[in-house]
Amino acid sequence: MSSSPKLPASATFLSTDSTASLPAARILGIETSCDETAAAVVENGRIIFSSTVASQIDLHAPFGGVFPEVASRQHIRTIYPILETALQQAHMDLKDLDAIAVTRGPGLPGSLVIGVNMAKGLALGSGLPLIGVNHLESHIYSAWLHWPPVETSPNVEIEPEPQFPLLVLIVSGGHTELTLMEGHLQYHRLGSTLDDAAGEAFDKVARLIGLSYPGGPSIQKAADGGDPRRFAFPRAWLENTWNFSFSGLKTAVLREVHRLKEVSNDLPVADLAASFQEAVVEVLVGKSLRAAEAFGAKEILVAGGVSANRALRAAFQTQAACPVNIPPLSLCTDNAAMVAAAGYYRFARQQRDSLDMDVLPNWPLSEV
Ligand code: KG4
Ligand code: ZN
Repeated sequence: MSSSPKLPASATFLSTDSTASLPAARILGIETSCDETAAAVVENGRIIFSSTVASQIDLHAPFGGVFPEVASRQHIRTIYPILETALQQAHMDLKDLDAIAVTRGPGLPGSLVIGVNMAKGLALGSGLPLIGVNHLESHIYSAWLHWPPVETSPNVEIEPEPQFPLLVLIVSGGHTELTLMEGHLQYHRLGSTLDDAAGEAFDKVARLIGLSYPGGPSIQKAADGGDPRRFAFPRAWLENTWNFSFSGLKTAVLREVHRLKEVSNDLPVADLAASFQEAVVEVLVGKSLRAAEAFGAKEILVAGGVSANRALRAAFQTQAACPVNIPPLSLCTDNAAMVAAAGYYRFARQQRDSLDMDVLPNWPLSEV
């Protein structure tokens, strides 16, 4: 029998911010959209009681990217122990919870199905409501989470919530989107990538210059010792739109690599990585800052795996005229605490999904 943990003395956010009128609720989040199997328990969309993530990176690294069949098989193996760990670490069982939130899409169909079926089974067995959550919305709500989890720092002040109107940049392995949020769960799509996602560009360019998967962290590490001005790679500004494009940049790196290899097999990897990274960062930051100004955003929120990038974080923090909210590194890449956070706001909005809910592998944020 578990005993529910008490809120820390400092967790007074319910009476001090815009969640004041929302119900108190503890949500179990489940995430299996790509190559992370994750479960978490979060209270009121902000306080993490537990967050467990099993990464499959080592399994996919030999393939240079995520191998879908391997991913779903691994989710099947891992999901049950991950769930048990998340509940144990939260000192809770299902009867202590108010709902189960699960990533419904976008993502790999065979991976999404594992999490959704597990969530349905738990909902059926426990009678708890089932809430299907959009993965991009989850990345956004990672900014509402307080880190570290409550058990490791019970007396830390909960930061204020991000303020609307909020300019949101989502940069992940599958998406690059600029969105304006006027309020909770309200998204006005400004633009997105016309070809490769930012993370995808990092992954592909890493492979081109002989770095390991996932490419983002590898390029960041290699770029540390490199000269970002050695190669003048193109910036696709796509003037008069809020869209992005990274395929031209990728092709420019490819051409440069071919040219260099004609001269020597010893590629200047650090300079290539630094020059590529700077080209991506300059466009992501430049367009986001312009959009924030144009739409009168009070704050900027950057979310998704690429938001872990140190150069990107530093550029936002030094160049923005308004506050920039970027989740801590542990919440940038896929996790289930963000699913529970988004699920909380959906729960408060009375969203309840039926047990015949299906996965939506191509579910755009504009259609949530
Ligand atoms: O959000 P995420 O974990 O999964 C998706 O929903 O796609 O993002 C994964 C992406 C990968 O492309 C990875 O290379 C990139 O995020 N990434 C980074 C960094 N850490 C992860 N990109 C640049 N710099 C990083 N430090
Ligand atoms: Zn993601």
